[in-house]
Amino acid sequence: MSSTTARELREEVRRRYAESARAVTEGTGECGCGTGSCCDGEVGEALYDLEQRGELPDAAVLASLGCGNPTAVADLNEGETVLDLGSGGGIDVILSAKRVGSSGRVFGLDMTDEMLALARANANEAGVGNAIFLKGVIEEVPLPADSVDVVISNCVINLSTDKAAVLTQIARVLKPGGRVGVSDIVAEDRLSPAERAERGSYVGCIAGALSKSEYEEGLLAAGFEDVSVVFTHEVADGMHGAIVKAVKTAT
Ligand SMILES: C[S@@+](CC[C@H](N)C(=O)[O-])C[C@H]1O[C@@H](n2cnc3c(N)ncnc32)[C@H](O)[C@@H]1O
Repeated sequence: MSSTTARELREEVRRRYAESARAVTEGTGECGCGTGSCCDGEVGEALYDLEQRGELPDAAVLASLGCGNPTAVADLNEGETVLDLGSGGGIDVILSAKRVGSSGRVFGLDMTDEMLALARANANEAGVGNAIFLKGVIEEVPLPADSVDVVISNCVINLSTDKAAVLTQIARVLKPGGRVGVSDIVAEDRLSPAERAERGSYVGCIAGALSKSEYEEGLLAAGFEDVSVVFTHEVADGMHGAIVKAVKTAT
């Protein structure tokens, strides 16, 4: 991908998700899925159980644009430091902040100002004091090396124009032995990039999806072990919501 195309795509993604945040803030709709403003397929609040939804402000639930529930797979413990890549309206940051308690902290990283404003308001309303929202891109995480126990993310890595950089950054910020537990859209290996693009748009989380083996190989190359990519639900022919897990090698 040329650098101009990558820049343009990132700007298109930013614009679409700014629009989704505004729709929630102004009460004009959920996320505009029908208009292609967020990930296509099964998305959002339906992926969280009633108990979790009860812990959240309405706007955080409405702003949920994920394709899974990383907090259900990441197994968080008291006192841990968590990083959510592409934190959107803050739903997974708030749930994680409650799990790690006051001795832990959770960073939410997002490039879209409107999402960051919505997430900060939601975290305040939820009364969590251990959530910190950072502006930046997931290809260049603004945190020191070896500083995070767990990286989560929900339907964001497929939107990156440089997935190798994202996986390298996850490996850099995790402490040795740290875990990654991500929900994402993943393609079956039989689909070429062109066939993936026929099934949905880039901003709709389909065209930019990695295949299962591309994800596995990318994680291994970045320094992870115990890599697994498990499909959970089909969102288009050969394209699935998936849970991606791996552990940073301890050395
Ligand atoms: C599909 S939404 C998911 C939001 C949230 N994870 C959730 O489950 O509701 C994608 C989010 O990722 C952010 N995003 C997309 N690409 C990004 C990038 N390269 N760097 C930082 N944030 C990004 C968008 O601004 C948006 O808030």
